Amino acid sequence: MSQYERMVIVTGNANRQLAEAIARYVKRPLGDALVTRFRDGETRVLLRDDVRGADVFIIQPTSPPVNQHVMELLVMIDAAKRASAGRITAVLPYYGYSRQEKKTVGREPISAKLVADLIQRAGAHRVLTVDLSNPAIEGFFDIPVDHLHAGPLLAHHVQRLLRETHDIVVAAPDVGAVRLADRFRSYLDNAPLAVLFKDRPQPDEVTMQGLIGDVVGKTVVLVDDLISTGGTLIAAADLLEANGARTVIAVATHPVLAEGALERLAASALYTVFVTDAIPVPNPPEAIRVISLAPLLAEAINRVHYDISVSELMHQPRLPL
Ligand code: R5P
Repeated sequence: MSQYERMVIVTGNANRQLAEAIARYVKRPLGDALVTRFRDGETRVLLRDDVRGADVFIIQPTSPPVNQHVMELLVMIDAAKRASAGRITAVLPYYGYSRQEKKTVGREPISAKLVADLIQRAGAHRVLTVDLSNPAIEGFFDIPVDHLHAGPLLAHHVQRLLRETHDIVVAAPDVGAVRLADRFRSYLDNAPLAVLFKDRPQPDEVTMQGLIGDVVGKTVVLVDDLISTGGTLIAAADLLEANGARTVIAVATHPVLAEGALERLAASALYTVFVTDAIPVPNPPEAIRVISLAPLLAEAINRVHYDISVSELMHQPRLPL
């Protein structure tokens, strides 16, 4: 039994396809919400379904165009609050601005904290998100945050691809990804770990400085949280091949995909790249496999609604894959 009589799922414009898939899994229609723009560009929202007293889930990755999608989210939360929703959960399969989560030089903002403040101030009671670039961002909120991991889901698909392969090494393409890669290898029978050292001489330029670990003759699975230009994974794959890796594949939760990234990845040394649909990937080339987060998010939404623990979903969820 839920303390809320009804569950209502609505979405902005960031990822309607994912929201529809989630609604199908939870066996409820997607709520009727108008999310558009006034002529001057301001965000216009109208929740056409009654949400009074309801458990409202707003599905909206704050993906590019980030500012527009953040604003849609905030205005939808405000609309639900003013329509007397019982509880509002912001479902953020991708949390935009998460890379600005600390000051690296003076006079920089901490935008990830500012966005967390805005979401709370707008009226969200909970947040459900996936693979934050830094788990410390959870602490930027003073409301409950359920932080899911796509790792088990992605690992399931990697295992299916590499069924006959034994010599697997999991690699972090930079020091920042070591924790993620270390966790990922636990889903692949504790495969050995390799670490690459990345440098960024310019914001959009990547060079690989070195590698720790034996990759000669191995199938290497690179693990990262997001792909933007693709530069990190492509440079990592080149270095791994130069060091004797037999095949290199990659997994990354968030396909942010700057312009041209898909083409660059498809033409690279990477055999296959698994990403999720946290952010839509229109017309992916064959080398890019998009795995849906819908079953994971739907299960988490059901558990939040019925007050059931979400933490077991963090490890090896048994989901209809
Ligand atoms: C930061 O280091 C992240 O984990 C990613 O490695 C990075 O943002 C990917 O960006 P790009 O695809 O542009 O190299």
